[in-house]
Amino acid sequence: IKTAVFISGTGSNLKNLIKFSKIKNSPISIDLIISNTSKAKGLSFANQFSIKKYVSSFKNHKTAETKILNLLKKENIKFICLAGFMRILSRSFIKKFRGKIINIHPSLLPKYKGLDTHIKAIQNKDKLAGCTVHLVTTKLDSGKIILQKVVKISKKDTSTSLAKKVLKQEHKLYPAAIKKIFN
Ligand code: GAR
Repeated sequence: IKTAVFISGTGSNLKNLIKFSKIKNSPISIDLIISNTSKAKGLSFANQFSIKKYVSSFKNHKTAETKILNLLKKENIKFICLAGFMRILSRSFIKKFRGKIINIHPSLLPKYKGLDTHIKAIQNKDKLAGCTVHLVTTKLDSGKIILQKVVKISKKDTSTSLAKKVLKQEHKLYPAAIKKIFN
């Protein structure tokens, strides 16, 4: 299944998904990387793995999405993985890929939708944090949950150390969720 990954930053999930796409019997191939900023470190994986990339600032959201939709069509992309993508896709974009866009979110949804999930978990003295892979719908971070992974918060954890621990689990969770969808 031809897949596009949307990123905004480091791209550790992207790199992990590329690795996953190359193993035997992987249901996906990654054929396109989209970023909303040329500064995203993860774009280097496009060069490294010879994957097509496209950058759009999303300054004009509608124009950006039209361009991206055309590109997705041209490349015959059938599935989209959001991996640290920090723009909110429009209702009409999501409807065109209904049930075909998934996202990884660094919290145990429905807890802590949106930003600063780790800061919120530490401030609230939560004992557990985690990550969620879910379907993208028109309501932010609210689509059907595919898989979740729990991470214990220790007394010593800061938002930085917690983010690191959760990210490690994200790298296990994202491929597992994709396998669950397609197998
Ligand atoms: C990940 O922790 C991901 O869950 C989070 O951004 C990070 C991206 O890391 N996503 C969100 O916060 C989405 N709202 P990466 O660029 O190294 O994959």
